[in-house]
Amino acid sequence: MKVLGIVGSSRREGVSGVHHLVTTVLENTDLDYELITLRGKKIGGCIACLGCVKDNICKVDDDLTELRPLIAEADAYVVGGSNYYSTLNALTHAFLERWYQFRHQEGDTLWGKLGVAVGVGGSSGGAPADVIENFFLYNFIETTAKVTGQGAASCFSCGYGETCSVGVVNMLYGKGVKITEDMIPQVSRQPEVIRAATEAGKKLGERLRDSHDRKEVTKNMQQTLLQKFAEST
Ligand SMILES: Cc1cc2nc3c(=O)[nH]c(=O)nc-3n(C[C@H](O)[C@H](O)[C@H](O)COP(=O)(O)O)c2cc1C
Repeated sequence: MKVLGIVGSSRREGVSGVHHLVTTVLENTDLDYELITLRGKKIGGCIACLGCVKDNICKVDDDLTELRPLIAEADAYVVGGSNYYSTLNALTHAFLERWYQFRHQEGDTLWGKLGVAVGVGGSSGGAPADVIENFFLYNFIETTAKVTGQGAASCFSCGYGETCSVGVVNMLYGKGVKITEDMIPQVSRQPEVIRAATEAGKKLGERLRDSHDRKEVTKNMQQTLLQKFAEST
């Protein structure tokens, strides 16, 4: 059993809340895992060329190409993205759009696998985690847990945070406040978030070791998606 972790943040390890949470989930699975960060990678969104419909292989040649085998071979995914403008950041979104290549002619490469959705935002990580969950659903991947936390908005370190009237520091603390280290939100200092990430990792590990039936998961996810369609039409 192998878990693939994807850090969709563009910020480096040590600063990125997504990196911290994805790693925490992975370390608690007690399974082999591989961690990929999308930081610095050039990955465009799906361009709807339909080059993948015959063989389920995307023909766009960018940094996603070398990741394809890892995605195909993994038994589960821990995907984390940042909250940009109240949705999933473009890099992670582009990465997940390209999973379109796996789905044609009932291509079941991803069906029935398991996933944990991780989201981090300057206020909340709920929005990106929800988008990741939706991507999972469309691929009949069951979201076993969502982990969300509050990360450090760039306004804390941009140099203008104390005076900028439209920055996050002003929104959270008011204009003119002196920024101190302990004010800067970090997921590592949010015990309930770390607990949720730890539990998510343990649960994912247990599911994969004990009772993972891909056919059953696929059936459930297909029903969930159909129901969702029915409710929205
Ligand atoms: C372009 C941009 C837009 C952002 N928009 C939001 C937002 O709408 N809501 C929010 O909560 N945080 C927003 N943020 C803050 C990030 O979500 C926050 O810094 C988070 O910690 C990023 O994840 P990371 O720490 O893994 O890099 C934004 C940051 C950037 C760079």
